[in-house]
Amino acid sequence: MITTVKRAIFPGSFDPLTHGHLDIIKRSSPIFDEIVVAVLNNADKHPMFSVEERCEMISEVLPTVDTGECRILVDSFSGLTADFAKRVNATAIVRGIRAVSDYEYELRMALMNRRLEPSIETVFLMAGEEYSYVSSTLMKQVFELGGRVEGLIPELVEARMREKLSR
Ligand code: PNS
Repeated sequence: MITTVKRAIFPGSFDPLTHGHLDIIKRSSPIFDEIVVAVLNNADKHPMFSVEERCEMISEVLPTVDTGECRILVDSFSGLTADFAKRVNATAIVRGIRAVSDYEYELRMALMNRRLEPSIETVFLMAGEEYSYVSSTLMKQVFELGGRVEGLIPELVEARMREKLSR
């Protein structure tokens, strides 16, 4: 019997990783055999963390998440998400939806990705309600202004943000 691996990618900026992202990884793990967390190397943006730092943090935090039998890999990519998905033989792109406001942008991306690569489907998962307002951008903003973000980002990520700011 030939068994095929059901592989998905979970693309994003992950600058930085939040508990919202981890929630989506956990929720998608029963659906797939492998998930590649794909960190976009976006030269236009001015990220807080380099792509290498983001990949390293994700790899360090992942063992704390129960993903059962599903293998989680971490990789970075440049260019189109659809091309990366095809290159790693993924059949699905996972994206988290926090609120209705995310839907319009996500729908446009999903339809464009489907046009670019019709064999790859986008799978939307609803983030846990407790993370419905959590975004990397908001976390950075609140943290930089001295607000509390405990429970919304992993402790390791918070420590690395503190190190960055103290430099
Ligand atoms: O975490 P983010 O910033 O919401 O992730 C957005 C991301 C990386 C998924 C999106 O910007 C993307 O796919 N960029 C790669 C370039 C691309 O494929 N653009 C066309 C998408 S329709």
